Amino acid sequence: MLRPTWVEVDLKKIQLNLQAVKKLVGPKVKLMAVVKANAYGHGAVEVAQAVIKAGAECLAVATLDEAVALREAGLKPMILVMGTNIPADGVEAAAVHNITQALCTEELARSLSASSQELGLTATVHLKIDTGMGRIGVHVDDAAQFMSKIRELPGLQVTGVFSHFASADEADQEYTSLQLVRFREALDNLTRHGYTFPRRHIANSAGILDYPESYFDLVRPGCILYGCWPGPNTNNSLPLEPTLAFKTRIVYLKKIPAGTSISYGRTYISSCQRTLATLPVGYADGFPRCLSNRGQVLIRGQRCPVVGRVCMDQCIVDVSEVPGVSLGDEVVLIGSQHEDSISAAEVASLAGTIDLDILCGIGARVPRIYR
Ligand SMILES: Cc1ncc(COP(=O)(O)O)c(C=O)c1O
Repeated sequence: MLRPTWVEVDLKKIQLNLQAVKKLVGPKVKLMAVVKANAYGHGAVEVAQAVIKAGAECLAVATLDEAVALREAGLKPMILVMGTNIPADGVEAAAVHNITQALCTEELARSLSASSQELGLTATVHLKIDTGMGRIGVHVDDAAQFMSKIRELPGLQVTGVFSHFASADEADQEYTSLQLVRFREALDNLTRHGYTFPRRHIANSAGILDYPESYFDLVRPGCILYGCWPGPNTNNSLPLEPTLAFKTRIVYLKKIPAGTSISYGRTYISSCQRTLATLPVGYADGFPRCLSNRGQVLIRGQRCPVVGRVCMDQCIVDVSEVPGVSLGDEVVLIGSQHEDSISAAEVASLAGTIDLDILCGIGARVPRIYR
């Protein structure tokens, strides 16, 4: 390593989390592991390989380039791009790399059909139905009509149908139940019109934890694979483990007298003599700037406060209370050390966001090390 800031990813724990999900949903339900956004910051290729080995049937990403990167790394299972695309973009890549695209516009269907025909290939798609997320998807009432428009398109095969929950992590279950009713009605209506689908799916992590009736043919776990709960109101009783640690080392140590200002904007001024350590990690690495004068890190098992503003590539912590503190000491930003630990959720709560935002925000320049 040329810079002592890194992420440790425990692939075994991701596999154990996946197995816990598998056990919960039972042997009849397939798993589509969500590995978008670099597998929630963990590294898409390595995580994808690990979850397939542990029993996931297929993978889901947000964008076509994420899917192509997985294919280029040699991953063979079905990959669903859950976002949609504009017709001209990437249709050829989707067909050539055998990537399944979410479909909710006629334009994309025609474009995929034309391109796959030209290449002598078949483009596979999963019909995306909007049951109430309000993001993308054919309206539930229009699904059968949509299918009738695209059914004759050559080179296009609809291998699945799916939707997405908007608030399955919330205590009030009414809206999720309504989404489920709408999804079932849409499926019934499609069946009446002669359309059936090998893979029907709607459950994200919150659906998996709280709505067994939402499992259908497969489920799409994301955050729970990475040891993160969808929220405080879900049934958080699965034996999940955190899967990532974010670490750095002390690269500079100094004693300062009272009245010394630290970092940009001079937002911290020492009130007495202190010992400060500079860390080679900043907001460009995903250590949020809003942790300035708020965040904490672990050094020799002790919590040390961030002092002054977090800079783009460095920040400063107060190590006055850490006996024996030394240059090169390991610093835990997220993870455990001795008896204490700092979770992504704790960092997120200080930063006014959610744990997934923190995990996905860990910068591309931070190397990931796999166990
Ligand atoms: C369509 C879709 N399915 C599944 C997931 C996985 O969600 P979670 O991480 O809550 O399990 C996401 C994530 O945002 C998504 O957008």
